[in-house]
Amino acid sequence: MCGIIGSIGHKKVVNDVLIHGLKRLEYRGYDSAGLAVLTTDGLKVVKRKGKVTELEGDQTTQKIDGNIGIAHTRWATHGEPNEINSHPHTDCAGKIAVVHNGIIENFYALKMMLVNEGHKFKSETDTEVLAHLVEKFYKDDLEEAVTRSLKLVEGAFGIAVIREGEDRIVVARRGSPIILGVGHKKMYVASDAPAVLAHTKKVIYLNDNEIASLYEDSYTIKDLKGKKVVNDIHEIKWSLEEIEKGGFEHFMLKEMHEQPDAIANALRGRISGEKVKLTVRFKSKNIKRIVIVACGTSWHAGLIGRYILEKMTGIPVSVEYASEFRYRDPIVDSRTLVIAISQSGETADTLAAVLEAKRKGAKTLGIINTVGSTISREVDSGVFLHAGPEIGVASTKAFSCQVTTLVLLAIHICQDLDKSVSPDIAQSLVKLPGLIREVIADRKKIQSISKKYQKYTDFLYLGRGINFPVALEGALKLKEISYIHAEGYPAGEMKHGPIAMIDPNLPSVFITPDDDSYEKTLSNMQEIKARQGKIIAITSIEDEKLTKLADDVILVPNVPAEISPIINNIPLQFLAYYIATAKGINVDQPRNLAKSVTVE
Ligand code: G6P
Repeated sequence: MCGIIGSIGHKKVVNDVLIHGLKRLEYRGYDSAGLAVLTTDGLKVVKRKGKVTELEGDQTTQKIDGNIGIAHTRWATHGEPNEINSHPHTDCAGKIAVVHNGIIENFYALKMMLVNEGHKFKSETDTEVLAHLVEKFYKDDLEEAVTRSLKLVEGAFGIAVIREGEDRIVVARRGSPIILGVGHKKMYVASDAPAVLAHTKKVIYLNDNEIASLYEDSYTIKDLKGKKVVNDIHEIKWSLEEIEKGGFEHFMLKEMHEQPDAIANALRGRISGEKVKLTVRFKSKNIKRIVIVACGTSWHAGLIGRYILEKMTGIPVSVEYASEFRYRDPIVDSRTLVIAISQSGETADTLAAVLEAKRKGAKTLGIINTVGSTISREVDSGVFLHAGPEIGVASTKAFSCQVTTLVLLAIHICQDLDKSVSPDIAQSLVKLPGLIREVIADRKKIQSISKKYQKYTDFLYLGRGINFPVALEGALKLKEISYIHAEGYPAGEMKHGPIAMIDPNLPSVFITPDDDSYEKTLSNMQEIKARQGKIIAITSIEDEKLTKLADDVILVPNVPAEISPIINNIPLQFLAYYIATAKGINVDQPRNLAKSVTVE
């Protein structure tokens, strides 16, 4: 949420690094963009409402340049998304520029203090207080002024600060991600690795309450008490091609197509025959309860995980929205395994839930995609998804890999507990990439079905048991990228409310696998049909009873129940994608959303 990029050492920092980096970070927010550069004429700032292309196309942007600069793409928190509220923010004298990701919770009190001292504010943002605080404390050392400022700040921040007369960028973090990129006589700061990948693969993850000064050919890192710290340099494994669209119209479409390979990567080295090998730091026999915490699509993966883990391992599982878990004084102890699921590994609520669980002595496990992310470094142990970078704001391949990983985890725990597992499950996991390829190959059919439904304004998604969360995820995907209202419901619960809405204008999407719930779900279809509701059915059964009831049927391969949510979800991704793109929406950057939600 909000993207930061900065660099020192490039001759033409604006075009070489800042604009390019901002484009890479746009998935973190795209309400406005801005940059600040130290030029021979002093500090210059340009900000534009809207996407990075607005900033890039601006004449002023093209006129300024220098070798020290910072830039920001914003997802608005405080203040509407206009030019004034865009970052970078400056002090009264216009010598200091700050970009910030996070929220300064006590900004109002700080602002009042600074206003009373005579500081003049231009924007409604929380961030501007940082620029004025640094101005207040600045004598002749930017790092010292930033350190003193941050001592007054409550909340979360990842910041980069520059000042006229200082040949460095000062960066700091608490709660919001910041990485440093190490180049040859060049240094970078960014909120996420894709922004620097074109320049360097060597990165340093800044920890909470650390502050760094970046110079052309060196850097220093200290904690906020002034003690020097040494952080390891890591090599980013992602390649440049992985963060390009590779000929696809959207990242989302590319990532949907990548699912077979992503799942193969998630399984690689972890499954052999029926045996699963995961390196986790808990003993299954000591675990009496599992609590899954996550947000958004990852929460839906968690709901599926509950069905899988409970059924296979016999351990009770609850699934919680991380934003609720963190504040309700949850009852967890050393015999509880708290599993955090997160694509980005940076979601603020999920991170806070992990910290709360750790504080209470629970064992924590991360199911995370982004290596080096904050959550992945906080948990006791973890299983990385290896799905590759997910850039499209709506999560697709990460979800498939999360559910795949949860199945692996369930098998792992069963092995630990000497519980038998049906060999079908491991065998189907290995076949999964090929089966998903079959579903993707059928996308033209889904596209033609989507054409019939793109004018509808409301949808109901219905499923039972392990496929109820798939209904939730299908509805979320449609909402996120098409702005069409959609609700996911347990098919059996439909008659307790949603059925009142059924008429020819409200289509229902049924997830109807070949399992124990099949006949019951058909009954629910009858109830919809009796009220002239349109029906799209996702099923693995070629059955006349169903084809008579459903207006449109999408066939998927038959797999064991534990794997079926992964397969059943794929057509729902394509349905949402085709409906949204037919409406002309940029599905990679749907309005009001951001990929990495690093604020509460
Ligand atoms: C945002 C994204 C969703 C994602 C959720 C959780 O809302 O738009 O796609 O599922 O955050 O993100 P995480 O990175 O923790 O999985």
